[in-house]
Amino acid sequence: MKEICVLGGSGFVGSAIVAKLDAAGYAVKVLTRRRDAAKHLFLLPNVQVVECNVQDYQALNSALRGVDAVINLIGVLHQSRQHSFNAMHHQLPAQLAKICVDLNIKRLLHMSSLRAGKNAPSQYLRSKGAGEAALLEYQHQLNITIFRPSIIFGRGDSFINLFASLVKNLPIVVLAKPNAKFQPVWVEDVASCFVSSIENTDTYGHTYELAGPSVYRFHELVKTVMATLQIKRLIIGLNDSFSYFQALVMEFLPVKLMSRDNIRSMEVDSVSDQPFPNAFNLVPTSLESIIPQYLVDQTPRGAYDRFRRFAAR
Ligand SMILES: NC(=O)c1ccc[n+]([C@@H]2O[C@H](COP(=O)([O-])OP(=O)(O)OC[C@H]3O[C@@H](n4cnc5c(N)ncnc54)[C@H](OP(=O)(O)O)[C@@H]3O)[C@@H](O)[C@H]2O)c1
Repeated sequence: MKEICVLGGSGFVGSAIVAKLDAAGYAVKVLTRRRDAAKHLFLLPNVQVVECNVQDYQALNSALRGVDAVINLIGVLHQSRQHSFNAMHHQLPAQLAKICVDLNIKRLLHMSSLRAGKNAPSQYLRSKGAGEAALLEYQHQLNITIFRPSIIFGRGDSFINLFASLVKNLPIVVLAKPNAKFQPVWVEDVASCFVSSIENTDTYGHTYELAGPSVYRFHELVKTVMATLQIKRLIIGLNDSFSYFQALVMEFLPVKLMSRDNIRSMEVDSVSDQPFPNAFNLVPTSLESIIPQYLVDQTPRGAYDRFRRFAAR
């Protein structure tokens, strides 16, 4: 395979995957709504960034013509009127699979989510489950691999960085669903799995759960962030009713931090009951070994380094 098309390649996980594909020598075509969103990829020598409205069947069909494999990473954590969970997580992968069949593109890798399924408690997880089911209808015509990660951490993530900034800026942390469980997995490990799977025929037709080496309750994750930043804050855990109430209030904020649907997703533990898949020959990386590398600028000592850099010393 020579040319790989990535939908959602400008995002947090997409950027890590695209960088690895580029380093492996693939020609990479990244589809984006706005070229500006992917400008950090312009300097990668084998990467071409193309504007495309992926919800337009004809536009997507033309953009995919001639590629050897497709990676779909498109996803939203908060739906809007124009971009519903159903449109993004269900209809889009179904349309993508149909186009792959029409264009005789045999390989499709798809990003879902741990605990996705039709009986899941949130619309996000149910729509991801519907997307998986739609793809499985094409399993006899396409070589499909589906990935289901827990939350993903790494430089530029929204989860750990969000809590780092809350911890730094607020005197107390009021936490919804403090006992919800997560098994965070490193973005570079996720990207390695995608890239090594492309031409590994053993992974065709499989669905893989990707989870890191440790399980954390939500409040433990926030404490880990605090320990990394060397900051102590009181954490007040909310019961279920107050968790939903807090999320309802947040739905009216201009910046989307948390929704009631996100709280519903936390009704099920984002934890895998399987070991990390053997197919990728990889020992998953721990959170503690990575987050200091990207939260360092926010520690008291890191601030001095920032000032030194600013003063060109
Ligand atoms: N991050 C996590 O912890 C996590 C955990 C489990 C599963 N996942 C899944 O992993 C995938 C990637 O997540 P991420 O964290 O990298 O997300 P991200 O940084 O928000 O990137 C999402 C990508 O989707 C594209 N996109 C978003 N809305 C779109 C729309 N309406 N139409 C077309 N494209 C749209 C964006 O492309 P443009 O802006 O360039 O058009 C962007 O590149 C998602 O499917 C997500 O559900 C993530």
